[in-house]
Amino acid sequence: MTPNVAADGEYYVDAPAVRAFIAAVEAARAAEPDPARLVERLRPAFSRLLQADGWLPDEFARPYEASGMGGGIGQYLLYRSADRSLTLFSLVIPAGSTTPVHDHLAWGLVGLYRGEQIERVYSPIATDYDAGLAKLELIDERPLRAGEFYTLLPPTDDIHSVTTTSSEPSISIHLLGNDAGCIVRHRFDPDAEAVAPFRSGYSNVPCGEEAAG
Ligand SMILES: [Fe+2]
Repeated sequence: MTPNVAADGEYYVDAPAVRAFIAAVEAARAAEPDPARLVERLRPAFSRLLQADGWLPDEFARPYEASGMGGGIGQYLLYRSADRSLTLFSLVIPAGSTTPVHDHLAWGLVGLYRGEQIERVYSPIATDYDAGLAKLELIDERPLRAGEFYTLLPPTDDIHSVTTTSSEPSISIHLLGNDAGCIVRHRFDPDAEAVAPFRSGYSNVPCGEEAAG
Protein backbone atom coordinates (compact mmCIF):
# COMPACT_ATOMS: atom_id res chain seq x y z
CA MET A 1 0.00 0.00 0.00
CA THR A 2 1.27 3.47 -0.86
CA PRO A 3 0.68 5.90 1.95
CA ASN A 4 0.16 9.58 1.61
CA VAL A 5 3.73 10.51 2.52
CA ALA A 6 4.52 14.09 3.32
CA ALA A 7 6.89 15.97 5.57
CA ASP A 8 4.36 15.55 8.33
CA GLY A 9 4.42 11.76 8.15
CA GLU A 10 2.79 8.71 6.56
CA TYR A 11 -1.01 8.59 6.51
CA TYR A 12 -2.21 5.06 5.73
CA VAL A 13 -5.72 6.24 6.62
CA ASP A 14 -6.08 9.76 5.29
CA ALA A 15 -9.40 10.71 6.86
CA PRO A 16 -10.37 14.09 8.34
CA ALA A 17 -10.86 12.54 11.80
CA VAL A 18 -7.31 11.14 11.73
CA ARG A 19 -5.80 14.37 10.39
CA ALA A 20 -7.57 16.39 13.10
CA PHE A 21 -6.44 13.99 15.80
CA ILE A 22 -2.79 13.97 14.72
CA ALA A 23 -2.81 17.78 14.51
CA ALA A 24 -4.08 17.91 18.10
CA VAL A 25 -1.43 15.41 19.21
CA GLU A 26 1.39 17.34 17.57
CA ALA A 27 0.21 20.61 19.10
CA ALA A 28 0.11 18.94 22.52
CA ARG A 29 3.54 17.36 22.04
CA ALA A 30 5.02 20.73 21.15
CA ALA A 31 3.58 22.28 24.31
CA GLU A 32 4.07 19.45 26.81
CA PRO A 33 7.30 17.42 26.94
CA ASP A 34 6.36 15.49 30.10
CA PRO A 35 4.76 12.14 29.10
CA ALA A 36 2.47 11.89 32.14
CA ARG A 37 1.04 15.35 31.56
CA LEU A 38 0.96 14.81 27.79
CA VAL A 39 -1.30 11.74 27.99
CA GLU A 40 -3.66 13.63 30.28
CA ARG A 41 -3.78 16.52 27.86
CA LEU A 42 -4.57 14.14 24.98
CA ARG A 43 -7.60 12.51 26.63
CA PRO A 44 -10.33 14.73 25.07
CA ALA A 45 -8.98 14.41 21.51
CA PHE A 46 -8.50 10.65 21.86
CA SER A 47 -12.02 10.25 23.22
CA ARG A 48 -13.37 12.15 20.21
CA LEU A 49 -11.52 9.84 17.83
CA LEU A 50 -12.97 6.76 19.57
CA GLN A 51 -16.49 8.22 19.42
CA ALA A 52 -16.26 9.12 15.73
CA ASP A 53 -17.72 6.66 13.22
CA GLY A 54 -16.77 5.86 9.67
CA TRP A 55 -13.08 6.79 9.57
CA LEU A 56 -11.56 3.28 9.93
CA PRO A 57 -11.69 1.34 6.63
CA ASP A 58 -12.67 -2.35 6.78
CA GLU A 59 -9.19 -3.43 5.64
CA PHE A 60 -7.77 -2.06 8.95
CA ALA A 61 -10.51 -3.68 11.02
CA ARG A 62 -10.14 -7.37 10.30
CA PRO A 63 -8.05 -10.24 11.72
CA TYR A 64 -4.76 -11.17 10.02
CA GLU A 65 -3.72 -14.81 9.78
CA ALA A 66 0.02 -14.19 9.33
CA SER A 67 0.09 -12.17 12.52
CA GLY A 68 3.33 -11.28 14.27
CA MET A 69 1.41 -11.51 17.55
CA GLY A 70 -0.15 -14.90 16.77
CA GLY A 71 -3.82 -15.76 17.21
CA GLY A 72 -4.88 -14.07 13.97
CA ILE A 73 -4.29 -10.65 15.52
CA GLY A 74 -4.05 -7.79 13.03
CA GLN A 75 -1.92 -4.72 13.79
CA TYR A 76 -2.43 -2.03 11.15
CA LEU A 77 -0.38 1.12 10.93
CA LEU A 78 -2.70 4.11 10.38
CA TYR A 79 -0.22 6.97 10.80
CA ARG A 80 3.52 7.34 11.48
CA SER A 81 5.40 10.59 11.95
CA ALA A 82 8.40 11.27 9.73
CA ASP A 83 10.84 10.72 12.62
CA ARG A 84 8.94 7.59 13.78
CA SER A 85 8.47 9.03 17.26
CA LEU A 86 4.68 8.79 16.97
CA THR A 87 2.41 6.04 15.62
CA LEU A 88 -1.31 5.42 15.44
CA PHE A 89 -2.42 1.85 14.75
CA SER A 90 -5.41 -0.45 15.08
CA LEU A 91 -5.22 -3.84 16.79
CA VAL A 92 -7.82 -6.41 15.77
CA ILE A 93 -8.12 -9.40 18.11
CA PRO A 94 -10.47 -12.24 17.05
CA ALA A 95 -13.05 -13.54 19.52
CA GLY A 96 -11.33 -15.63 22.21
CA SER A 97 -7.78 -14.70 21.14
CA THR A 98 -5.25 -13.23 23.57
CA THR A 99 -2.13 -11.20 22.86
CA PRO A 100 1.17 -12.31 24.35
CA VAL A 101 2.06 -10.54 27.59
CA HIS A 102 4.10 -7.64 26.22
CA ASP A 103 5.52 -4.20 26.90
CA HIS A 104 5.50 -1.03 24.77
CA LEU A 105 8.53 1.00 25.94
CA ALA A 106 6.83 4.36 25.33
CA TRP A 107 3.95 6.46 26.58
CA GLY A 108 0.64 5.70 24.94
CA LEU A 109 -3.13 5.85 24.86
CA VAL A 110 -5.10 2.68 24.10
CA GLY A 111 -8.84 2.73 23.58
CA LEU A 112 -11.52 0.35 22.46
CA TYR A 113 -13.32 1.16 19.22
CA ARG A 114 -15.41 -2.00 18.69
CA GLY A 115 -16.17 -5.15 20.71
CA GLU A 116 -15.18 -5.92 24.29
CA GLN A 117 -11.87 -6.87 25.91
CA ILE A 118 -10.34 -7.73 29.22
CA GLU A 119 -6.89 -6.32 29.95
CA ARG A 120 -4.54 -8.06 32.40
CA VAL A 121 -1.97 -5.68 33.84
CA TYR A 122 1.36 -6.89 35.19
CA SER A 123 3.96 -5.26 37.39
CA PRO A 124 7.65 -6.26 37.09
CA ILE A 125 8.91 -7.68 40.41
CA ALA A 126 12.41 -8.72 39.29
CA THR A 127 13.86 -8.59 35.79
CA ASP A 128 17.11 -9.52 34.11
CA TYR A 129 16.40 -8.96 30.44
CA ASP A 130 19.87 -10.05 29.30
CA ALA A 131 19.39 -13.38 31.08
CA GLY A 132 15.81 -13.79 29.80
CA LEU A 133 14.34 -13.68 33.30
CA ALA A 134 11.30 -11.65 34.39
CA LYS A 135 9.18 -12.24 37.45
CA LEU A 136 5.84 -10.47 37.04
CA GLU A 137 2.88 -9.96 39.32
CA LEU A 138 -0.67 -9.74 37.96
CA ILE A 139 -1.97 -6.55 39.54
CA ASP A 140 -5.22 -5.81 37.74
CA GLU A 141 -7.85 -7.26 35.40
CA ARG A 142 -9.93 -4.60 33.70
CA PRO A 143 -12.89 -5.05 31.34
CA LEU A 144 -12.97 -2.53 28.50
CA ARG A 145 -15.95 -1.48 26.40
CA ALA A 146 -16.15 0.63 23.26
CA GLY A 147 -15.20 4.24 23.93
CA GLU A 148 -13.16 3.43 27.06
CA PHE A 149 -9.41 3.87 27.13
CA TYR A 150 -6.31 3.78 29.33
CA THR A 151 -2.80 5.17 29.31
CA LEU A 152 0.63 3.53 29.08
CA LEU A 153 3.45 5.10 31.05
CA PRO A 154 6.65 3.04 31.34
CA PRO A 155 8.18 1.71 33.45
CA THR A 156 5.23 1.15 35.80
CA ASP A 157 2.19 1.03 33.51
CA ASP A 158 3.60 -0.79 30.51
CA ILE A 159 3.11 -4.60 30.65
CA HIS A 160 -0.15 -6.31 29.82
CA SER A 161 -2.07 -8.85 27.78
CA VAL A 162 -5.44 -8.33 26.14
CA THR A 163 -8.20 -10.87 25.44
CA THR A 164 -11.29 -10.34 23.32
CA THR A 165 -14.41 -11.24 25.30
CA SER A 166 -17.02 -10.24 22.71
CA SER A 167 -18.36 -12.72 20.12
CA GLU A 168 -16.97 -10.51 17.34
CA PRO A 169 -13.35 -9.30 17.01
CA SER A 170 -12.34 -6.39 19.22
CA ILE A 171 -10.73 -3.36 17.59
CA SER A 172 -8.57 -1.10 19.71
CA ILE A 173 -6.85 2.12 18.65
CA HIS A 174 -3.32 2.80 19.88
CA LEU A 175 -1.39 6.04 19.97
CA LEU A 176 2.25 5.37 20.92
CA GLY A 177 5.24 7.61 21.43
CA ASN A 178 7.44 5.27 19.37
CA ASP A 179 7.33 3.02 16.28
CA ALA A 180 5.75 0.23 18.35
CA GLY A 181 5.42 -2.31 15.53
CA CYS A 182 9.02 -2.04 14.36
CA ILE A 183 11.08 -1.57 17.50
CA VAL A 184 12.31 -4.58 19.45
CA ARG A 185 10.42 -4.84 22.73
CA HIS A 186 9.61 -7.81 24.99
CA ARG A 187 7.17 -10.65 25.33
CA PHE A 188 6.80 -12.39 28.67
CA ASP A 189 5.82 -15.82 29.91
CA PRO A 190 4.72 -15.08 33.49
CA ASP A 191 4.33 -18.75 34.50
CA ALA A 192 7.88 -19.57 33.36
CA GLU A 193 9.21 -16.20 34.64
CA ALA A 194 10.76 -15.78 31.19
CA VAL A 195 11.15 -12.85 28.79
CA ALA A 196 12.33 -12.69 25.18
CA PRO A 197 12.90 -9.98 22.55
CA PHE A 198 9.79 -9.36 20.45
CA ARG A 199 8.98 -7.37 17.35
CA SER A 200 5.30 -7.46 16.44
CA GLY A 201 5.58 -5.81 13.02
CA TYR A 202 2.60 -4.26 11.25
CA SER A 203 0.19 -6.33 9.18
CA ASN A 204 0.13 -3.75 6.38
CA VAL A 205 3.63 -2.18 6.34
CA PRO A 206 7.04 -3.92 6.40
CA CYS A 207 9.53 -2.59 8.93
CA GLY A 208 12.57 -2.73 6.65
CA GLU A 209 16.14 -3.59 7.47
CA GLU A 210 17.01 -0.31 9.13
CA ALA A 211 14.58 -1.00 11.94
CA ALA A 212 15.58 -4.61 12.55
CA GLY A 213 17.26 -4.67 15.90
FE1 LIG B 1 -0.34 -3.58 24.29
